[in-house]
Amino acid sequence: MKGIIFTEFFDLVEQAFGFEVADKIIDECELPSGGVYTSVGTYDHTEILALVGTLSKITEIPAPQLLITYGRFIYPKLHAQLKGMGLEFRHSFELFSALDDIIHPEVLKLYPDAELPNFEASVLNDHQLLLKYSSCRPFAHMAEGLIYGAADWYGENLAVTLTHRNTDNNFCTDITITRQ
Ligand code: HEM
Repeated sequence: MKGIIFTEFFDLVEQAFGFEVADKIIDECELPSGGVYTSVGTYDHTEILALVGTLSKITEIPAPQLLITYGRFIYPKLHAQLKGMGLEFRHSFELFSALDDIIHPEVLKLYPDAELPNFEASVLNDHQLLLKYSSCRPFAHMAEGLIYGAADWYGENLAVTLTHRNTDNNFCTDITITRQ
């Protein structure tokens, strides 16, 4: 997982819970990286899961909720990269429909070692879009937060529901997005 995911996570933890909590979660997790991250580095995704799990224990906020908050927080940083890729979208549904075919493939050109999920998008009707998330990593709730982040970005009101359909070797989640 790219270092920006870790450096932004610590920005959020420091802002929301303070430096002491940030230090505490690093101390309590046995991390191969030692908890030292640079935005250009690449680290094992299990480290972010360990950090979120420990933060959840300390704050008593459920881990899925932390992942949603984190996705929403990091979204503007990811969206800012679209301009450099020459990409622009008029509204969130247009962007979500381009995730798998255009956006994440462009991300891979920039960061060939990025670990990205698959999203199959289908329009259900004028107000609803289904995104089928599948990944060998369990970050569907981060996707949920990123979707809320895109809603904030475009000034839209979106409701998101998740139905987990995990298989033996993949994390699969149907994400239904309703524009209000
Ligand atoms: C709402 C729109 C988006 C959603 C739902 C989404 C979803 C995700 C998810 C869930 C992951 C975690 C990896 C996994 O689950 O296997 C991820 C990783 C990532 N995404 Fe997206 N994404 C969105 C938009 C973007 C945009 C606009 C960019 C940048 C142009 C971007 C760049 C990245 C990068 C750099 C990673 C990290 C890859 C790694 O750590 O190796 N995403 N995305």
